[in-house]
Amino acid sequence: MSEGKNNTSDLEQFFSANEKRMEDELFELLRIPSVSAKSEHNADTKRCAEWMKQSLDKIGVPAKIYSTKGHPIVVGEWRKAPGAPTVLIYGHYDVQPAEPLDLWTTPAFEPAVRDGKIFARGSVDDKGQIFLHVKALEAHLTTRGKLPVNVIVLVEGEEEIGSDNLAEFVESNKEMLKADAVVISDSAMFAEGQPSILSSLRGLAYFEINVQGPAGDLHSGSYGGAVQNPATALARIISTFHDGNGHIAIEGFYDKVRDWDAKIREGMRNLPFDDAGMMKEVSVDALGGEKGYTTLEKLWIRPTCEVNGLLSGYTGEGAKTVLPAKAMAKVSCRLVPDQNPKEIEKLMAAHVAKVAPPGVKATVTALHGGSPWRADLDGPIFEAAKRALAKSYSKEPVVVGEGGSIPVVSDFQRVLNAPVLLVGFGLPGENAHAPNEWMSEENFRIGMRAMAALWDEYAAGTG
Ligand code: BES
Ligand code: ZN
Repeated sequence: MSEGKNNTSDLEQFFSANEKRMEDELFELLRIPSVSAKSEHNADTKRCAEWMKQSLDKIGVPAKIYSTKGHPIVVGEWRKAPGAPTVLIYGHYDVQPAEPLDLWTTPAFEPAVRDGKIFARGSVDDKGQIFLHVKALEAHLTTRGKLPVNVIVLVEGEEEIGSDNLAEFVESNKEMLKADAVVISDSAMFAEGQPSILSSLRGLAYFEINVQGPAGDLHSGSYGGAVQNPATALARIISTFHDGNGHIAIEGFYDKVRDWDAKIREGMRNLPFDDAGMMKEVSVDALGGEKGYTTLEKLWIRPTCEVNGLLSGYTGEGAKTVLPAKAMAKVSCRLVPDQNPKEIEKLMAAHVAKVAPPGVKATVTALHGGSPWRADLDGPIFEAAKRALAKSYSKEPVVVGEGGSIPVVSDFQRVLNAPVLLVGFGLPGENAHAPNEWMSEENFRIGMRAMAALWDEYAAGTG
């Protein structure tokens, strides 16, 4: 344990004396519109990578920028703790598009604090969370001139678009990235004040489905009723994805789904979760999904098939009688161990080919994917995290699942063969990917203290 002379009070003093400056620095980062999905922001993502590099250089973690076919990757390294373990801290500096802009109370890239919440695109996903790690390292380096462990910081710019170039980067740089543990903060706590460690992430298989009917739009009076309508055809296709119980009806879809340990399911059932609270949070009067599972099970341990977007025909003002030539849907499946995005791609293509009505041509294009992941939750990094979180939050952490995806996690585990600790500082209702995204100021502050404590705990637990 980290008692004695170098106890945490030196770090605490540093944090309290520098709180305002650290938040100001975070705001600078949040002002950069590093939207990875849109090429019009390419200069901004580049600038953001440079900003990240400088913020690491400044604290004494020299960093380099690695260009990729897409957005650059920033890697900082500090390796002056011989004999101590090496940790890899991962996060992403890219953000989701901010649209629809008119629904933001204050502009997406002009951070503002209201009610203890830092509002800005990327505040919690993931700039605030990766930056709190940088500040935790700074606290050690400034107050003690060193870190208790060796550290690699990897911040990428393509997480929100599937991390397509990162797996290859990890493969070809596995010597540089070799670590005893990987630590990631890009998720949420189960509830306010309740520190949480993730036991799983879902994977993803993302598709675009295009349905082509006649060569061009047609008069719906002259042709409607005789010519197959692509919008209707697409609706029919989509309606076959689930049966009446919310079970996915794509042949073979569940074949690889591994059973969950009874203990983990039991743990999930014991978490205080209230469907009514979730209904209220998202303003609906009933929840949906697969029969026979609790809400947390539906979110954490069951796969899904969701429509993310639909486009067809006339959607402007007033009425236009037209039979559209084509229709398009964006569809994504969240996957659980041991489903594989490539296999799901094949099953989806076969299913759509089977159910598409005659008179239209339906094609399925895979956009990106990521594998699901399940943690082992054993070993020194998890023990250290439990201690550090319990001290910083004065509450024992809970183990929770997660419905979202972080594509590189399974690659880290596979290529680096290191345990991955996911410890998030977001909160329910944080509006990630939506207008008015926020990060709790308190979690930014406690999070950096907890992560600074983690390195002491981890070094003590492995030394
Ligand atoms: N931070 C999220 C992952 C996440 C989502 C954690 C929800 C906890 C709760 C990450 O930035 C993200 O949004 N990932 C994408 C990945 C996709 C684009 C491959 C996701 O889950 O949609
Ligand atoms: Zn995200």
